[in-house]
Amino acid sequence: EKGTYPYYMLKEIDEQPAVLRHIIQEYQGEDNQLEVDEALLAAMMEADRIHIVACGTSYHAGWIGKHYLETLAKIPTEVHIASEFSYNQPLLTGKPFFIFISQSGETADSRQVLVKVKELGYPALTITNVQGSTLSREADHTLLLYAGPEIAVASSKAYTAQMTVMAILADVLGRQKGHDSQWDLAHELGLVARAMDTVIDEKAQLEELAQAYFTDTRNAFYIGRGLDYYVAMEAALKLKEISYIQTEGFAAGELKHGTIALIEEGTPVLALVTQASNASHTRGNVEEVRSRGANTCVIAMEGLEQEGDQFILPHVHEELAPLVAVVPTQLLAYYATLQRGYDVDKPRNLAKSVTVE
Ligand code: M6R
Repeated sequence: EKGTYPYYMLKEIDEQPAVLRHIIQEYQGEDNQLEVDEALLAAMMEADRIHIVACGTSYHAGWIGKHYLETLAKIPTEVHIASEFSYNQPLLTGKPFFIFISQSGETADSRQVLVKVKELGYPALTITNVQGSTLSREADHTLLLYAGPEIAVASSKAYTAQMTVMAILADVLGRQKGHDSQWDLAHELGLVARAMDTVIDEKAQLEELAQAYFTDTRNAFYIGRGLDYYVAMEAALKLKEISYIQTEGFAAGELKHGTIALIEEGTPVLALVTQASNASHTRGNVEEVRSRGANTCVIAMEGLEQEGDQFILPHVHEELAPLVAVVPTQLLAYYATLQRGYDVDKPRNLAKSVTVE
């Protein structure tokens, strides 16, 4: 039940720090070490390539998952939109391993690929919020998100849970393969939960930012590089699906290759800046669009802040920054939608779980 909350989405955004703490607990074994099922680990140790298949927000979490699997477990990983996979099936290596990410575990586009993968005889893992769901039953392995029921059509806590579970999986796999990850992931995730709490306490500021940037715009952009680009894609989906503002999540460096032509006086461009290695380049892109009239705002991690309109995120491990950086964008989408007078939980033309192909 949503209790005193006006909308499920707001409740689900607020639940994220608690969900994160719950996931850490669920995946902690003896000696507080993060663990996953032995049979799953054994199957993944064999893989020469991982294919992540998903839709929508789960697809966006897949990109972050790819990053973790490649950096921590050092396994080449591809990310596929489920509805494209069947028609554009990638050339498969000898030992592929498939990961299906689905909050509901019922998405038809993803299921269609899973059925095919099972026909071909390849191993598959489903990462889902719903125990006993179709995708969970039909895959060889399941990892649960432990996010609790997600009711709002716009996914929030499932996305942060998906990224968390992918980080845990990649970290455990990496250790199993003998790669020293140089961090205590459970500890770092605890700090992320605290940072999320801080962002959630800044609702008043985010409500004002939504007012300043989104009240009567027709379009908007989120930009970033690397992990920030992946979050930009998710931030854009969130804003467009509930506020109906046409929004694109864009690779910051790619703007000047065409899309910058869309920038006019007042176009909102929000940049994510959480990675020291590319911060100055993204800042450069912000300047490019600002000088062409864009209404710019930077969502920057502590330590990377500068003068100008910005929202500051508490510092966390850079690799986990997406978990914190997405939270203000969820709240911006929420407030923009309220201010524009739409139903946050039930956007037009959309269903919570898409069971048709
Ligand atoms: O249940 P699933 O994770 O498989 O759902 C996938 C998408 O339909 C879902 O993430 C959708 O994009 C959400 N409305 C996004 O907020």
